[in-house]
This record gives sequence, C-alpha cells and structure tokens, in this order.
Amino acid sequence: MTDGTSGTIRLHVNGVTHERHVDHRRTLLDALREDLGHTGPKKGCDRGQCGACTVLLDGRRVVSCLTLAVAAEGAAVTTVEALAGDGEPAPLQRAFVRFDGFQCGFCTPGQLCSAAGMLAEHAAGWPSAVTADLSPDAPPPPLDAAEVRERMSGNLCRCGAYPSIVRAILDTAAGEGVAE
Ligand code: FES
Ligand code: FES
Repeated sequence: MTDGTSGTIRLHVNGVTHERHVDHRRTLLDALREDLGHTGPKKGCDRGQCGACTVLLDGRRVVSCLTLAVAAEGAAVTTVEALAGDGEPAPLQRAFVRFDGFQCGFCTPGQLCSAAGMLAEHAAGWPSAVTADLSPDAPPPPLDAAEVRERMSGNLCRCGAYPSIVRAILDTAAGEGVAE
C-alpha cells in the first residue's frame, strides 16, 4: 500500500521478515533501530562519514544511514546481531576480543560488519585503491596491513583502536589463533 509519501515494505533482517509502513524518506538505519529494535547498527554521524551504521545488504556492506529503507526491500539485511552463529561469537568477533580491537565499543558493530564484507570482497578478488597490479590477469591482491587499512578506511574509531582492528582482521583471514 502506498500513499505517495509512504508505503508498506517487507524487510528481511537477519533471516526474519518484517512488514512495516514507512515514510519513503526513512533511512534503513532508523527503520532497523527505531522500528525493528535492532540497535546493533549505531548512529554516529548520520551522514555517511563514520561507518558506525554499517550493515550487510545481500552480503555487501552499506552505510545504513544513507540507504533508504524502501531501497532495502527484498534484500537480505544482516546486522552485527547475526554475525554470531548459534549464540557463539564468530571468528572475527573472537579476534576483536583477543586483540583488543575496541575500547568504548561504539564503532565495533560497524567495524565487524565492514570487516566481514571486506573479507568477502577480498576473497572474491576485488582490488582496492592500494592494490598495485590492476591488470585483468593479475592474481588476487595479497591481504596485508595496507590493504586492510584501505579497505576499512570508511570505518572511523574515535578510540584509535585501528592497529588492533587491523591485526584482528589479518588474524581472522589467516585462520584463527595465529597469534595471541
Ligand atoms: S552513522 Fe552512518 S556513516 Fe556515520
Ligand atoms: S572503540 Fe570507541 S570508537 Fe571505536
């Protein structure tokens, strides 16, 4: 149902489908937090600059403060709440704990979703702005600290936990428990 400025949409969040009547201008972030109670994605800047609101949309990371809820209809939305499986923290989450990849924790849900999306992008062979060889027949770029920093550059951390975040992501990529 639509009245020109609002309409009823279906949002598939963490495997559950919700039907809501929303203003066409409502952001996905506000729909998640205020309408559906998913408070994992955080509202930092509300203008696409900090990454605290990052979620996965069909497996690709987006800043949900710049994504309209109506644009997410039909897509699978994954928030930080669903990264863990069967109540157990995901390897990425365990690595963030092991390496102290956070202090206040405000940016952490966005960092974790972004890291999950980033690792998938790298595994699919996507280059980044610091990838040296962009030729069509180039091998997948190595995942080193420079690549991780560039690929995570949209996620800010006011506590400055960046070195630990990079270590946690590299450790996860290399397989759990490489270094304590
Ligand atoms: S709250 Fe969305 S990028 Fe800052
Ligand atoms: S842990 Fe505090 S903002 Fe990142």
